[in-house]
Amino acid sequence: MNIQKFLKKKIKKIYKKYGISNDLDPIIRKNIKNNEIDYQVNGIIRFKKITVFSPYNLAIHISNHMRKLNIYKKISVLPPGFINITLKSTWLNKCINNMYYSKNFNISKKTSKNIVIDYSSPNIAKEMHVGHLRSTILGDVTARVMEFLGHNVIRQNHIGDWGTQFGILITQLQLKSYKSYNNIESIYQKAYLKYQNNPVFKKQAQKNVVKLQKKNQNCLKIWNILVKSTIQKNNEVYKKLNVSLTNNDVRGESFYNGMLPDIISDLKKKKIAIYHEGSIIVPLKKFKNRIGQNMGVVIKKSNGAFLYTTTDIACLKYRCNILKAHKIIYYVDKRQTQHLLQIWEIARKAKYVNINTILEHHSFGMILYKNKKPFKTRHGKVIRLLDLLNTGIHRAEKIIKKKNPQMHDSEIKSVAYDIGIGAIKYFDLSKNRKSDYVFDWNQMLSLDGNTAPYIQYAYTRIQSVIKKNQSYNNLYLYPIKIFTPYERTLVLTILQFEETISQLEKHGTPHLMCNYLYDLSGKFSKFYENCSILFVQEIHIKLSRIKLSMLTARIIKKGLYLLGINTVSKM
Ligand code: ARG
Repeated sequence: MNIQKFLKKKIKKIYKKYGISNDLDPIIRKNIKNNEIDYQVNGIIRFKKITVFSPYNLAIHISNHMRKLNIYKKISVLPPGFINITLKSTWLNKCINNMYYSKNFNISKKTSKNIVIDYSSPNIAKEMHVGHLRSTILGDVTARVMEFLGHNVIRQNHIGDWGTQFGILITQLQLKSYKSYNNIESIYQKAYLKYQNNPVFKKQAQKNVVKLQKKNQNCLKIWNILVKSTIQKNNEVYKKLNVSLTNNDVRGESFYNGMLPDIISDLKKKKIAIYHEGSIIVPLKKFKNRIGQNMGVVIKKSNGAFLYTTTDIACLKYRCNILKAHKIIYYVDKRQTQHLLQIWEIARKAKYVNINTILEHHSFGMILYKNKKPFKTRHGKVIRLLDLLNTGIHRAEKIIKKKNPQMHDSEIKSVAYDIGIGAIKYFDLSKNRKSDYVFDWNQMLSLDGNTAPYIQYAYTRIQSVIKKNQSYNNLYLYPIKIFTPYERTLVLTILQFEETISQLEKHGTPHLMCNYLYDLSGKFSKFYENCSILFVQEIHIKLSRIKLSMLTARIIKKGLYLLGINTVSKM
């Protein structure tokens, strides 16, 4: 049940009576500050010019109509034109019981859309590092949420498996043979130095890129080995991170290589691309360079090489024509905003993208170190993602050992995994993705505050409450009912789960789910401190409270699942 949406629909009908046009949706705000008021209708002031009424009078009229629906305990109008709503507890009772008995929390399924989510997408030949964390986990949350809502999610790991870096690597591997490719990163670093300082090497590397593009057998063979071994390593990271990407989702830059010549000739034919000093460019009026001139985006260099942009245009065409995407979401850091706007503009001009197809860039900020500089090792090196995850698990292990000296080693290991990984992911997800944040081990592993361990701990506590009261098997005889203000607040918050998911779906902002779970856990604590379960005599109250606890636990578990975080049974 999405109360916000329900109210919106009802109030919209009333709006119509006053000639307010269909595309002016009622604005319904959840009220967080005042316990007496559940929701507020905002934005009536906007209708000043549309109706003969003053906003205040209009609000009065609207509220009079609203009263005909038997779900409000109190409706009051506040100048200049707000309507405050308090819902009837009997209605909340009805909603919460429906939710309790629904496997899916009574959340309405959407008409299934094809949603392509481009995320993680690291460049191959380098190991995944801290910089890949955000795209990988933010994108994964959206994939889980969309799937939960019934969409057909197409995950795309657009790995950088093509281009100059392979020319460099292939050249190095032709010069020197290596026993294993386990350490591609360091081979690449050495080769890159050569590339920068040795003109002969550089020339050869550039030649190899062209050769690779022309499908030279030897180059292809080396390339294949490099790509396979890096993908394998990345899979280790995904597994550890509990991220739902698999080999089937990999569709990297190389995949589109064969389509590029056709794209170029098509764009030329459509007069979108032109020759310019030996290269082929797409002039774009919307984009200006540093000195204010119209910008031309290069799609083929004078030496015949294609670019990242060219690949992304082909990729967009593929996603629309072949994958039939209704919506494409890119989880790429904010430095690539302009790049994406450009390829979208070009692809739309060329009609590779349907007008109705939605293209979204869910950009995100950087992870910083305490000194507000990019998060690196003490020696200024990038931090391998796998090392970071292992450190998190290790730190969690120490904390758990100290708290539970009697816990078995194997259990400690498994709990430490869920806590460590959960802490890292949650800390990141709980920040608004648009902002940078400072990485802080102590904060993320703390049991206080808006952290994964806090929520995981709340979950184990609720589980033990349920366990203590397990002996009742006639739960179905007694509905959940609101008896005290604590229960009312908890019920209302539980009912706001769907609103939270739909906000998250709309904006790709997992921090809203984190805030919600934190709030829910707090409300449960308040309820539990103030409403006895074990010692209450009346069976109908007792069982209602047990059911409320069970529903809270289910919501927390599902909420964490959507964030890609596991619950634990003990901690
Ligand atoms: N490989 C790119 C990078 O590491 C990210 C790719 C994002 N996806 C895309 N379709 N361009 O910067």
